[in-house]
Amino acid sequence: MTEDDRNVNEKGRKVEEGGRNAGQGNRNAGVDSQNSLEISLERIVDLDARFGMQTYSRARVAFVKGEGAYLWDTEGKKYVDFVAGLAVNGLGHCHPNVVKAIKSQAERLLHCSNLYYIAPQAELAALLAEISPCKRAFFCSSGAEANEAAIKLARKYFRKVMKQDRAEIVTFSKAFHGRTMGALAATPQKRFQEDFQPLPEGFKYLEFNDAEALLENVSEKTAAVMVEPIQGEGGIHIASDEFMAAIETARRKTGALVIFDEVQCGLGRTGKLFAFEHYGIRPDIITLAKSLGGGVPIGAMLAQDEVASAFAPGDHGSTFGGNPLCTSAALAAVRTILDERLTENAATIGQYLLSRLHEISAGLPAGVVREIRGRGLMVGIEISFEGKGVVSRCLERGLIVNCTDGNVIRLLPPLIIGKEEVDQAVRILGDVLSLGKP
Ligand SMILES: Cc1ncc(COP(=O)(O)O)c(C=O)c1O
Repeated sequence: MTEDDRNVNEKGRKVEEGGRNAGQGNRNAGVDSQNSLEISLERIVDLDARFGMQTYSRARVAFVKGEGAYLWDTEGKKYVDFVAGLAVNGLGHCHPNVVKAIKSQAERLLHCSNLYYIAPQAELAALLAEISPCKRAFFCSSGAEANEAAIKLARKYFRKVMKQDRAEIVTFSKAFHGRTMGALAATPQKRFQEDFQPLPEGFKYLEFNDAEALLENVSEKTAAVMVEPIQGEGGIHIASDEFMAAIETARRKTGALVIFDEVQCGLGRTGKLFAFEHYGIRPDIITLAKSLGGGVPIGAMLAQDEVASAFAPGDHGSTFGGNPLCTSAALAAVRTILDERLTENAATIGQYLLSRLHEISAGLPAGVVREIRGRGLMVGIEISFEGKGVVSRCLERGLIVNCTDGNVIRLLPPLIIGKEEVDQAVRILGDVLSLGKP
């Protein structure tokens, strides 16, 4: 038995004792919470296996430090990060502006209730109104909650403001709007919905990018069409111009609201501040989360004034929504995206990334890469076999990528990356893909 094994076993025994003694005042459970930088990977995996609810299929690695586009694991190994917390770390890891804002807010006031005014929340609402066509903001803590709020607001708007009984929410194949019950009902994918029925009623599912079906099916019963301008979890599918034009036509014809779910694609990622700007269509509601907080949990539902007027005190709320800590971090994050012109960087570097990927793909055996698609720094490489093995081979070589929809290697690097990181990532991807099916 090695010294490390002995440590793990010793700590494991303490955890078991802690578990047995739970409720008897022993709250330590043997966890090295004050020094997680020194906890071993084995220890973390063991604790998670025994005490964590097993909702994630995790790679066997734990990151303990991040800076810019790089992460370090428990063994000190360095990785270039092309997942960026699934689009959360848009500014890279531990951006100094966000860290500074969090530190100074934490020393003054961490939380107070929405029963009172909250300075950074009000300032963040004003900043979002300045940069988006939607002039009012509701804050929550995640993307799913932002979408729940959007669904509620759309329904309330028709009942209260328009005095019409229309509640139908139209969403599309391969969409992902979150895992809470309303957002899940808006997510017509078997792999997410299965075994959770009954789901809330009033959702209609149409084929993504089918303009004809959209025009036929959006009606005076439709309260809102909810769409991701670029589908993320669904495998990086870009809404076509024709499809978006049909959404605009349907809106004009029927009065249905348009909700853009920009939780993943918003705030600079696609090379425009908002992805809907690629289409010249005006949203009634926008939902944001992920990169909004620069790493802290925050979501926002933005709406046009008239639509927002449907909500009165008591209609909706969130205990943590818009709290001082998260809104201070988000203020710093959004200001940094604007000041450092990260949207422009995403456009330029995104173009470079796409061209380099096409270059390596041309050198691979025929049929390995089926399609490369994306905008800015939201890119998918659809391959002809299961992508999990590619993800782990990249990880072994120090590159973090993700696989979605079975065979789409998804790249969501921080918006701050430069050509050097792209070259490094593309070289590793090229090596791994050239090995073919694992
Ligand atoms: C487009 C989109 N909407 C909503 C969500 C749900 O966000 P959250 O996981 O923060 O609830 C996600 C998460 O991946 C997303 O990509």
